[in-house]
Amino acid sequence: MNGAAFIPVALNAQPPLSRQQGGRAQAANAWPAMSEWIELVALDELIEGQGMSVKGPDGHVYALFLQGGQVKALDDECCHQGGPLGEGDLDGDGVVSCPWHGWQFKVETGECLDIPGECVRAYPTRVENGKVQVEKL
Ligand code: FES
Repeated sequence: MNGAAFIPVALNAQPPLSRQQGGRAQAANAWPAMSEWIELVALDELIEGQGMSVKGPDGHVYALFLQGGQVKALDDECCHQGGPLGEGDLDGDGVVSCPWHGWQFKVETGECLDIPGECVRAYPTRVENGKVQVEKL
């Protein structure tokens, strides 16, 4: 050898293992959590400009909107006093108005336009086989 160290390279990387609980090897939570797509409703149930509150199989309630043919998803619970955002209207500028007291949120990001720093969570969406899915983060 010429003094260079041989460093093996793993071609099929696995999560690192840690020794815990009596010396048994267990996968450490070193990798970021995998995302999970949750199926909610058929795309044709959504109406352009109108919201829909949908309880997912995970028990969480999402507010879905159709804007220019694109599905948008927010937490359904308004950060003011819990109003159902899915029952709110979506205007042509992509702003959702809470049906209880009128706070407004950007449908793209969940940012509140009335109170700086307030927001609701926005979720990535996709349509698979005609069904709307949201990515649980
Ligand atoms: S509960 Fe939404 S604005 Fe009050």
